[in-house]
Amino acid sequence: SHLPLVDRFGRVATDLRLSVTDVCNLRCTYCLPEVVDGWLPRAEVLDREELVRLARIGTRTLGIEKIRLTGGEPLTRPDLVEIVADLHRALPEVELALTTNGLGLARKAGALREAGLSRVNVSLDTVDRHTYAQITRRDRLDEVLEGLSAAVAAGLTPVKVNCVPTRGINDDGLLDLVDHCVETGCELRFIEQMPIGAPRDWARENLVTAQEVRAQVATRYELREVPARGAAPAELFDLWRDGEQMGRIGTIASVTEPFCGSCDRTRISADGQLRSCLFSQDETDLRGLLRGGADDEQIARAWLGTMAAKPRAHGSDAGGFGEDFVQPERPMNAIGG
Ligand code: GTP
Ligand code: 5AD
Ligand code: SF4
Repeated sequence: SHLPLVDRFGRVATDLRLSVTDVCNLRCTYCLPEVVDGWLPRAEVLDREELVRLARIGTRTLGIEKIRLTGGEPLTRPDLVEIVADLHRALPEVELALTTNGLGLARKAGALREAGLSRVNVSLDTVDRHTYAQITRRDRLDEVLEGLSAAVAAGLTPVKVNCVPTRGINDDGLLDLVDHCVETGCELRFIEQMPIGAPRDWARENLVTAQEVRAQVATRYELREVPARGAAPAELFDLWRDGEQMGRIGTIASVTEPFCGSCDRTRISADGQLRSCLFSQDETDLRGLLRGGADDEQIARAWLGTMAAKPRAHGSDAGGFGEDFVQPERPMNAIGG
């Protein structure tokens, strides 16, 4: 009885990434400048009722099965636990996940679990304190590590850790990060750096490819590929040593092996702009419809139309990050990753 969010290439979006704020308390060099020009005015950001209304339309009318809350940093929103609780109460059948940098997670993990959150992904590029401060421009590694442990203890599992390796910055500490994740029982995913950050200084030679990462990890563990990947962006590998399975890692090769052909995502920015792709040049103003008195059917129709026009790959039908690639105006922290 759903009207599926299907595009010209037959892809169906069942995974909604809902950004709840553009504000972040870190300044990762590949994502934000040292001094931020200003965040979205509060009045432009969707409030709790608006988030729930969009989630309900997406789920009950358009076949969304999973909602991931993103940012900026979602935990900077004082009402995040209430947002999760309201979403879970309204849509108990939907899987709710969160992507966070881990700051403040130690204090909130239990309450988030109780409110109905299923699991979390924590962004962490290194376990070296100096390198962490160099990348994030904040000396707060210990708080993140506490948050990670708290998430595991609260049952927000499987906890996944996202690492963006950058050549010459954190690429000498990847094995230490793998060991930490093996010890804490987290699934570590390495993400190839994409040209989507506000600094706009992306260069292909600075990205560490999925293949390079796997070669490095293979010096310490035996990698056994896990089949059945579906629409998930990560290729998964079980880690073995001395005949014993130690853990699992994933590689997300967004640049060297794009997975756009199986993409199942639809995205809404913190200010209620719908995007069919991370790299879209176009947005649809759902907030304007919401606040202009549109009914559910009008909103659903706008959503269907936007997704029908989803580009084949990487924001242009040609695909790839070559010379004809144009980076979207809106930076990562305002899209939600
Ligand atoms: P689960 O697999 O459900 O745990 O989540 P996820 O991997 O989709 O979520 P997460 O927010 O942890 O995303 C990890 C990273 O994968 C993102 O930050 C992106 O770098 C990359 N990624 C996620 N979705 C897309 C996408 O649609 N296109 C591309 N190119 N990369 C994506
Ligand atoms: N390329 C790839 N991943 C990125 N992230 C942020 N910026 C980039 C980029 N340019 C990651 C963050 C976080 C996730 C939401 O996206 O590290 O884990
Ligand atoms: Fe989907 Fe666009 Fe990401 Fe490709 S780049 S996987 S089409 S969101």
